[in-house]
Amino acid sequence: MNKAKRKAVIAGNWKMNKNAAEAAELISALIPEVAGADCEVVVCTPFTDLPIAVSKTAGTNIAVGAQNVHFEKSGAFTGEISAEMLTELGVQYVIIGHSERRQYFGETDVTVNKRLKAALAAGLKVILCVGESLEQRQQGVTAELVAMQTKIALGGVSAEELKHVIIAYEPIWAIGTGLTATAEQAEEVCAVIRGVIASLYSEADAETFTIQYGGSMNAKNADELLAQPDVDGGLIGGASLKAPDFAAIVRAASR
Ligand code: PGA
Repeated sequence: MNKAKRKAVIAGNWKMNKNAAEAAELISALIPEVAGADCEVVVCTPFTDLPIAVSKTAGTNIAVGAQNVHFEKSGAFTGEISAEMLTELGVQYVIIGHSERRQYFGETDVTVNKRLKAALAAGLKVILCVGESLEQRQQGVTAELVAMQTKIALGGVSAEELKHVIIAYEPIWAIGTGLTATAEQAEEVCAVIRGVIASLYSEADAETFTIQYGGSMNAKNADELLAQPDVDGGLIGGASLKAPDFAAIVRAASR
């Protein structure tokens, strides 16, 4: 498969960090650092930072994403945000199924699928997160688990819609821990995911499908991870909160 057919996507997942003023400051610092990058650059901010992020990034090569979306259009869903509310603001991306949502907020493969379909229907691009816990890795079920998460999440998604989906492989044990998957471990699972896409859709769809690695990715390890044949980008947590660190990863993806 030809990696050159795929666009690298480097996305920052700010999680519950940065107020609006801090968001404006970080984006201002980022704009000159990533201008001219040869990859897609996305910042996924808290909901409350989205308006300032959209206005600050207007006319730049930085796209803005949210970190979650509800599957209903409107109604009695206290605390939730619909896909149309995001697109109306100018938001282009949304992260769905992050392990922190699965772990702390009861997100399941079924609700991930519902959110993903609602997001696509509204015209959002989706960063779908999959990945195993340390216990699951030790039990040797990583490949099956990630395949299952991928299959259920993509249930009812057409090949046309798949063009607006990317998958982030994030081993839970590597998130925020400073423990990075080795390049071989990342490659192995990203290749499994690509195989699942090929079996659900086609080899051609799998060849152009973007798969990110996420989990303690930083300026130091980005080069090696991004050099793997099936790793097309990164979903970056901690290192996305400092402009020079995030920009270094963007540069690594542009090489
Ligand atoms: P990390 O987070 O880079 O801080 O490990 C990645 C993520 O959770 O998306």
